[in-house]
Amino acid sequence: ADYGLDGFADYMRKEIGDQPEAMRRALLGRLDSRFSTAHLGGLRLDPRELRSIRRVKFLGCGSAYYAGQIGANLVEELARLPADAEPASEFRYRDPVVDPETLYVAVSQSGETADTLAAVQELTRKGGRVIGAVNVVGSAIARECGSGVFLHAGPEVSVASTKAVTNMSTCFAMLALLLGRVRDLSVADGRRIVAALDALPRRVEEVFETEEVVADAARRFAGARHMFFVGRVRGWPVAREGAQKLKEISYVHAEAYQAGELKHGPIALIDSGMPSVVIVPDDELLVKNIGTMEQIKARGGPVIAVTNATLPEGLADAELRVPRTEPELDPILFGIPLQLLAYHLATELGRDIDKPRNLAKSVTVE
Ligand code: AGP
Repeated sequence: ADYGLDGFADYMRKEIGDQPEAMRRALLGRLDSRFSTAHLGGLRLDPRELRSIRRVKFLGCGSAYYAGQIGANLVEELARLPADAEPASEFRYRDPVVDPETLYVAVSQSGETADTLAAVQELTRKGGRVIGAVNVVGSAIARECGSGVFLHAGPEVSVASTKAVTNMSTCFAMLALLLGRVRDLSVADGRRIVAALDALPRRVEEVFETEEVVADAARRFAGARHMFFVGRVRGWPVAREGAQKLKEISYVHAEAYQAGELKHGPIALIDSGMPSVVIVPDDELLVKNIGTMEQIKARGGPVIAVTNATLPEGLADAELRVPRTEPELDPILFGIPLQLLAYHLATELGRDIDKPRNLAKSVTVE
């Protein structure tokens, strides 16, 4: 169901702006500062059951899959449990080995995506433990899973998903925190994450204060036919989602690459007409990411850095600034300027933002 545009030109921009509120709804009543953990009652898992989980696998399609990849990184970092993400569209067809000690998380905004629903059905048929991370209450995937975490992003109309994706990774941070706190995540680290999550909606508002800079970069690079999105580890799913957003609404060819893999082939594509958006968090990999930018610059490629670090003077052709949070949560925040970049670039090209060609809001067919 559509709802009002509140003076915005389109739903996508309205929904980008909704994010601080949407995130507050996802966090509401779920953060526990007394015990430095999260409460996710909808999971219906007591501490003993939570401790019996040996592995976590996120399943979803498109942006929901990329959000799952952010979730997998968070679970590995905070709970030290092996975790990964796989496209539900692959999982359903490959006769997967279903492991009883794995917690499967089906990720979907609409709750109606056919491939994700089929993956859930395959799992339940084989006796797998599956929970939903779904936005639409009462949807097919939510019902089929029976338990999980609702995203509380509110209705999302734009085909290009923004606030639902942000709430997915926000909910996964809470899931990772909870899994961590029944294991070895210290009270101090738990407290650090709780405080940072609590402050995150405000940080998103601070990203909006930089919108003119992002719009300016979008105008400068709107002539490019191809773009790289480059990141490593925490930055890799962020790069994938950034590229996806740009492709969907601008029809510019965007390719996401792991920073360390560039030199193994795709760097051959770099020239002055091929800008790279590089994800550069101020974390233990900063020096590596600066090296990546230098490699791109040395081959004449323009660099758009998305960063909360202080970069060497003149290295980036454009700098999209991101406020600081705890490093584990950087992927949630770094997604916001990339949404704005795709949005402004597509606007510059005169695209129909809310109705991109060839796409539907939810893919209920195979
Ligand atoms: C997101 O911008 C895309 N339109 C698309 O990748 C989407 O995330 C995917 O189709 C999954 O949809 P769902 O979350 O409703 O299952």
